[in-house]
Amino acid sequence: MLSLCVTGLLRPLSASLCARTPQLCQLSSLTLTPTLYSAAAAAVRAPLRAAMCQTPRYNILQRVSALVPSLTVQPSRSLTYYSLKKGKRKTVKSVTERFMRLHCGLWIRRKAGYKKKLWKKKPARRKRLREIVFCNKTQSKLLDKMTTSFWKRRNWYLNDPYMKYHDRVNLKV
Ligand SMILES: *[C@@H]1O[C@H](CO)[C@@H](O)[C@H](O)[C@H]1NC(C)=O
Repeated sequence: MLSLCVTGLLRPLSASLCARTPQLCQLSSLTLTPTLYSAAAAAVRAPLRAAMCQTPRYNILQRVSALVPSLTVQPSRSLTYYSLKKGKRKTVKSVTERFMRLHCGLWIRRKAGYKKKLWKKKPARRKRLREIVFCNKTQSKLLDKMTTSFWKRRNWYLNDPYMKYHDRVNLKV
């Protein structure tokens, strides 16, 4: 059933391909029809089909990773020590997007998924997700290293909800 659909979708493509390169026609009809391509994948892969036909035993991981780039492309959170323009350290933007630094040096964050799919979470879980979490010492040190002094200066915001928390009280060091 599925293969029928796929061949139906592929037919106009393969017809146009065969018009241009008749020698590939035979190969493509042999190799592409048994494999289960989705329509989207076929559309994406259409320009690559000539290459595919020549190497029918294409590595399965390479095939899949071409469709799902996140399998091979790692998220880049690397730290720039010396920027190209000014030769300065750079802040890792994903840190400042996800975490907040209190002036005393503690880092806080929201819980993962705290505003996602709340309709199916029980009230107790929703309450837990609303809580704000402190990072521990190791994490805070790492986050300090990933940000520049700009993020460590004191800000005086109007009606800052964190005003009370920026300084530690009753802490004997
Ligand atoms: C801080 O948290 C991380 C991740 O939860 C953990 O691996 C690490 O051991 C913790 N460090 C300390 C000092 O508790």
